[in-house]
Amino acid sequence: MFKVKTIEGTDKPGLYREIAGQLESLLEGEGDAVANAANTAALLFHVLPDLNWCGFYFLRENQELVLGPFQGKPACIRIAVGDGVCGTAAARRQSVLVPDVEAFDGHIACDPESRSELVVPLAAGDRLYGVLDLDSPLVSRFDEQDRAGVEALAEIYMRASTLQE
Ligand code: SME
Repeated sequence: MFKVKTIEGTDKPGLYREIAGQLESLLEGEGDAVANAANTAALLFHVLPDLNWCGFYFLRENQELVLGPFQGKPACIRIAVGDGVCGTAAARRQSVLVPDVEAFDGHIACDPESRSELVVPLAAGDRLYGVLDLDSPLVSRFDEQDRAGVEALAEIYMRASTLQE
């Protein structure tokens, strides 16, 4: 059985390198996109400090993001592309880092505890499959190193998983 390893005493890029190694092992040999999303969300929620929510939204018909596997409190199920932080990252196909959600016009408050947020698109070529969303109860929890680290983790998820055509 896979064992989540506690990571201590390392800098942020080092932390993300270790998590990347754990994620590669966790997803190795499995292509199911839902199972892999569930395990990715669980791993990140347990090894990244100060998160209150971590999970996936998948792009479905009508340009809607629909809730996928996550860890944290129950969340909004459908978000239109262009709405909130998730929909903005989907529309731009770029990561969106929000240091203070109260200062982000249109932020969708699923869990009132969330104070900062990082959303990374899940894309392959020019096709968008969804987003990976991380929320923290701390203001300014995420920085550029988190953005780069989580983007690398999203790529590992995308490479391992067979996504719907
Ligand atoms: N805050 C997000 C909605 C999703 S939850 O945080 C889980 C947004 O503004 O898109």
